Order: sequence, then structure tokens, then C-alpha cells
Amino acid sequence: MIITIANQKGGVGKTTTVVNLATALASIDKKVLVIDMDPQYNSSMSFNVYNPNLSIYKVFSNKVNIEDTIQKSQIPNLNVISACEDLAAAEYELADDENRNFLLKNYINIIKNNYEYIFIDTPPTLGLLTVSSLTASAEVLIPVQCEFFALEGLSKLIKTIELVKTNLNIDLKLNGIILTMYDKRNSLSSLIEKEAREYFDTTVYKFNVPRNVTLSEAPSHGLPAIIYDLKCSGSQAYIALAKEFLERSNLNGSQ
Ligand SMILES: Nc1ncnc2c1ncn2[C@@H]1O[C@H](COP(=O)(O)OP(=O)(O)OP(=O)(O)O)[C@@H](O)[C@H]1O
Ligand SMILES: [Mg+2]
Repeated sequence: MIITIANQKGGVGKTTTVVNLATALASIDKKVLVIDMDPQYNSSMSFNVYNPNLSIYKVFSNKVNIEDTIQKSQIPNLNVISACEDLAAAEYELADDENRNFLLKNYINIIKNNYEYIFIDTPPTLGLLTVSSLTASAEVLIPVQCEFFALEGLSKLIKTIELVKTNLNIDLKLNGIILTMYDKRNSLSSLIEKEAREYFDTTVYKFNVPRNVTLSEAPSHGLPAIIYDLKCSGSQAYIALAKEFLERSNLNGSQ
């Protein structure tokens, strides 16, 4: 199953969610690929595989076959395709290509049978990189940071998802919304949670991701938090979320 993690708001926990969910699933023997579609290449760095010569951008510019860009991570069962800064240029380099929204989907088709789960990390924009990721995916997962204005941008994102569904990918399903950086000492967090659950109901995952410093430290060690410190509250939350993720994707029956 191919799943995009998207939110055009920056710093809401997209990359942290991709990295830790992918690792949690790989650790229960699922075959997992992470494709970094963000020119900030944070998930490539988090897995310590950043390599501009093997970037997905090289595939878009026909320099390297997608099969040859796949790198092993330090985690068994988990491979990664790196991003690089130049990927930002793809937005305008491909602007005249009529097929631009389907390029990623077509490339992923070549390799998708080797994996049970393919996670796509996206940049904080709703441009070609995110739209073509949504076009290639069976499902989309939205991390939402528990802060003021968190829900503001969400209607625009949902509208974009609906547009992709109508025009590019009729099978796209909303896997769910994950509330991130939940701070139980901050009443704003519980307020945002209440609002999100009232409005989006069961679309919101049962478990929230707490604000946890280990989650933010782990990338500097080139390791996902759940490998760096399995016991921390952030890792434990992502383990619980991975279980819920599996339940949801089974329910949806996405391939
Ligand atoms: N639950 C958390 N607790 C504490 N820090 C977190 C948590 N989740 C993410 N962070 C930190 O917050 C910052 C933003 O998180 P992350 O990079 O995952 O967001 P993003 O949505 O991918 O950002 P961008 O839009 O720039 O790609 C990072 O420094 C990350 O380590
Ligand atoms: Mg990111």
C-alpha cells in the first residue's frame, strides 16, 4: 500500500511520523520503502541515507533508474529513496509536462510489488511534489500539530485531496488525522484535540503523539526515535499508532 503523509503547514510532524511509523512496521517484518519527496530531505537524513546522486530528483530528470536509487537503511526491511535540494526545481522543470502529476506514480509502479508499505514524505506545500505523491497513493495521512490555527489550513488540504480524487486519483482515501506534539500540561492541546475530534470524529487517530524531546533529538543521531530510545513516550506513541494504522489500512482494504 502506498501512503502519503501530507500537510502544507510546516513543522507539524510529517517527517517524524513517516520515519517512526515506517520503522515500527519494518520492525514487525513488513517490507517498507520510504520515498522522500521533500527538497528539505529531512527523512533521508533521519535514516542517515541522504545522497543527492541517488535522489528521486535524478529519476525525474532521467539520470538514474528508480530501482537504482533505493538505499538500505540501518533497519532491516526498510529501504529509502533520498531527496535533495534540487527536487524543488522539479516543480517548474516539469511544469510543461502534461503527464507531470503521474510521473511519480509510473515510477513507483516499477518497484511497488517489492513492498508492503510505501510511505511518501512531502514538503509543506500543495504543489506538484505533494499532488503527484497523492496521485500515486492509495491513502493519505495528515499529522496536525496541537496548536492554535492548527485546523485553519486543514480545510484547504482536504479540498486539495478532494480535487486530486476527482481529477487524478479516484481511489485516494483519507487514512486519518494524527494529532502531534500534544502537551498535556497545556490546555490548548486538549482544546485543539476536542475541536478536532468533534469536527473530524473517528477520522482522528485514537492515540496522540505527545510532545517529547527524544523525538526531536533522534534525527541528529541518524536514527528513528523508536530505535534510538524505544521506551520514550514518543516512541511508545508511534508503536501504538502503527497498530492503529494497520487496523485502518486493513479496514480500507487498500492495496
Ligand atoms: N511529538 C514531538 N515532540 C517534540 N518534537 C517533535 C515532535 N514531532 C516532531 N518534533 C520536532 O518538530 C520539528 C518538526 O517536525 P517534523 O520535521 O517531523 O515536521 P514536518 O511536518 O515534517 O516539517 P516540514 O514541514 O518542515 O517538513 C522537528 O524538529 C521535529 O524533530
Ligand atoms: Mg518534513
